[in-house]
Amino acid sequence: MTDGFEGEGPIDWASRLGFDRPDFDLRLASYLELTRPMPPGIVRRIDAPDMNDPKVQAEVDEAKRNLLKLLAVGGLAAAVGGGAVGAALQYIQPPMQGLASYPRVQLLFADGTPITTSNIDSQIDPTTITVFSFDYPLSGEVNMLLNLDPTFGVPPNGVGPKKNIVAYSAICQHLGCIPPFLSYYPASEAKQCGFNNGAPFIHCICHGSTYDPYTGDSSTGGGASILTGPTVLPLPQCLLETDANGNIFVTSVIGPPVKGHFTTLLGGTPGPVPAKINPIQVQPIPNGQRCP
Ligand code: FES
Repeated sequence: MTDGFEGEGPIDWASRLGFDRPDFDLRLASYLELTRPMPPGIVRRIDAPDMNDPKVQAEVDEAKRNLLKLLAVGGLAAAVGGGAVGAALQYIQPPMQGLASYPRVQLLFADGTPITTSNIDSQIDPTTITVFSFDYPLSGEVNMLLNLDPTFGVPPNGVGPKKNIVAYSAICQHLGCIPPFLSYYPASEAKQCGFNNGAPFIHCICHGSTYDPYTGDSSTGGGASILTGPTVLPLPQCLLETDANGNIFVTSVIGPPVKGHFTTLLGGTPGPVPAKINPIQVQPIPNGQRCP
């Protein structure tokens, strides 16, 4: 690192600032009072307590009392026996729950009516900004059901006659924001923002991550691909299937692990079966303020 004023020779800043000295790291650590181990030869001096000071005497008495209490509790626990100790430990760390495999779960509207490929248009309008969320496979693992506008393309793994019905995790892969902070924006909002060539998108207003519901990410095994960061992972996709009557079922999740959850299905409470859609209202983008 060299630089200097006109007429002077170059200044060796590394040398001036002492970067090149062998003890630079030790001096910097000591200056910043870093918590890493102190280098050999440097000790902290602690003055011996004044045992005549009433405050010190009170602290010593308190410490003695605490030790006696600890011994008494320990003796009682030993007398009661290992069963009580085991029960206490179970309370501290509840048994692992979860699922052995992905269940096949039917999706219902909020009133309990089964969602089908023929009635979905009646309640989930592709131009609406409302998020239709459901928990799957575990409770709290929120996802969104999308009835995408087919004029903008065919999404991966879509079901229905137009192959436009899909579902994605509604937990942002950046830091885990959920609806209404993470939401689906239809074409009207995309046009207002001049974003994504006017095609619908999924956007998280927490830090601006944006996902494309029409494009899968093959590098992570699936999921809505990234349009803008800071997320570095696509949004996991819930796989859907239909029966002979057009009823819609969710059968598994593909793509990267859902943000904040285990890579297995252990450690949580199984989600509801069947799963009802919960509409979450999202505010339209005000004058482009929340555009990506
Ligand atoms: Fe969604 Fe940060 S949590 S962008």
